[in-house]
Amino acid sequence: MKLRKVLFFLGLLLFSPLVFTSNIEAKYPYKEPLKKKAKTLEELAAMYDSSACESCHADKAEQWKKSLHARSIFGTGRTAATIYTVYKVALKNFPYSGVKDIKDVKVEHLMLCAKCHLPQLEDAEDSVAQEIVKLAIDFIEGDEETYEKAAEKLQMVNINCLICHQRNAIIHKWVEGYPEKNVVYGFKAGFHPYEKMPEIGVSRALRESIFCGQCHGLGPNLELDEPSQCATAYGSYLYNYVAKGGMKTCQECHMKESGLGHNIQAYRDKKMQEMALDFEVNARPVYWRDGRTLKPLIYAIINMRNKAGHGIPDG
Ligand code: HEC
Ligand code: HEC
Ligand code: HEC
Ligand code: HEC
Ligand code: HEC
Repeated sequence: MKLRKVLFFLGLLLFSPLVFTSNIEAKYPYKEPLKKKAKTLEELAAMYDSSACESCHADKAEQWKKSLHARSIFGTGRTAATIYTVYKVALKNFPYSGVKDIKDVKVEHLMLCAKCHLPQLEDAEDSVAQEIVKLAIDFIEGDEETYEKAAEKLQMVNINCLICHQRNAIIHKWVEGYPEKNVVYGFKAGFHPYEKMPEIGVSRALRESIFCGQCHGLGPNLELDEPSQCATAYGSYLYNYVAKGGMKTCQECHMKESGLGHNIQAYRDKKMQEMALDFEVNARPVYWRDGRTLKPLIYAIINMRNKAGHGIPDG
């Protein structure tokens, strides 16, 4: 009797709000919960400022700056333009989105893009989501000066060193633990000569395709209230490349064989173009008798084989 009562109260304690709060905190990507969320885009940029890394890892920083990861909510301009469309055409017109005006936009509304384009938006308040939408509007509707400023501001936040080597460095957090703010994650644990982050931790995923798969898409994002679909390269890689005997990781092709390192690129780069296709053309000119006229034609046999680790183009 007594033991059952004790067990019952223990059970109650376990499910008390206090214990629940710590469970919720554990869902946060870092070991320590955030003291406060970013209120402005500038605060969010400062929270993930990786400019200090540049002084010692200049080569990586130079490469990274040329990649689209360095402008992940701006892209080639098309990403910012599509965020504009998401607000104007989608969110404002969806009957149950709750968005009638910019002030109604919440972080949750932009996570259908930011899940991959800016995962750290989760660490910001709704005011930052509203700021991003305003900047996307300025970028599309503004005059020359406003639009240039907006383009610049939209590139202040991105997928930088601290996203890949800290925030998103650990995928299986129940096994390996949650990332810590004073650690950079690489391959061998040890001392890191940077006073703010004096430790190197091990990221088991960093050299694996699943690391890139976090953002490169399996298909529709069904876990969201309003699923979106954009990149699907990781799904294509798993089910069509690996399943058919493909051996290479994303990093092997995109960072090593390409020789591009942290300037991770696709078809915009000459070397990636060469790596993309086996292309064989056999052509023979012929004259075709079409009634009473002779027409010059080309008889061609074209063989194309996709050598990438996924379907191209993606999306
Ligand atoms: C004062 C110079 C300095 C600064 C600043 C610095 N690093 Fe390092 N970092 C190093 C050195 C030196 C090593 C190599 C340590 C070793 O191999 O023992 C290293 C190692 C690393 C590794 C591990 C590589 C491996 O082989 O496991 C990563 C990842 C890394 N740094 C990322 C960063 C990031 C991200 C930042 C910015 C937040 C940063 N570093 C800032 C000097 C620096
Ligand atoms: C998109 C994710 C991504 C970003 C952004 C990123 N890295 Fe890396 N980094 C990687 C991956 C993946 C590897 C491992 C590559 C490999 O060897 O397979 C790596 C490797 C490294 C290494 C070890 C390389 C070596 O050869 O010893 C260092 C140091 C490093 N990164 C620093 C940085 C710095 C500094 C930045 C910011 C300027 C940065 N990284 C941005 C994904 C990223
Ligand atoms: C945190 C999310 C994230 C991670 C991790 C990530 N990427 Fe990306 N990547 C993106 C986003 C978002 C873009 C597109 C940005 C844009 O143009 O708007 C992109 C762009 C690219 C592109 C350029 C595509 C093009 O159209 O030119 C390549 C290639 C790429 N990533 C490969 C990789 C590889 C390889 C890794 C792993 C080493 C990786 N990414 C890790 C989110 C990520
Ligand atoms: C599953 C992750 C993911 C989600 C969710 C996602 N994207 Fe993407 N998006 C990517 C990646 C990765 C790339 C670049 C690589 C590629 O083309 O596959 C990309 C590329 C793009 C591009 C082409 C970039 C350029 O500059 O050419 C646009 C535009 C874009 N995304 C807009 C959006 C918008 C807007 C949303 C939200 C409605 C969204 N994406 C949701 C991952 C995602
Ligand atoms: C066998 C080598 C190889 C592997 C493995 C590989 N890629 Fe690629 N990838 C390429 C080549 C080559 C291209 C250039 C073709 C192109 O962009 O059309 C490319 C293009 C891309 C693009 C741009 C797609 C587009 O719209 O054209 C993205 C994004 C990308 N890769 C991401 C990844 C990710 C993420 C992985 C791992 C899940 C991966 N790649 C694995 C070789 C590879």
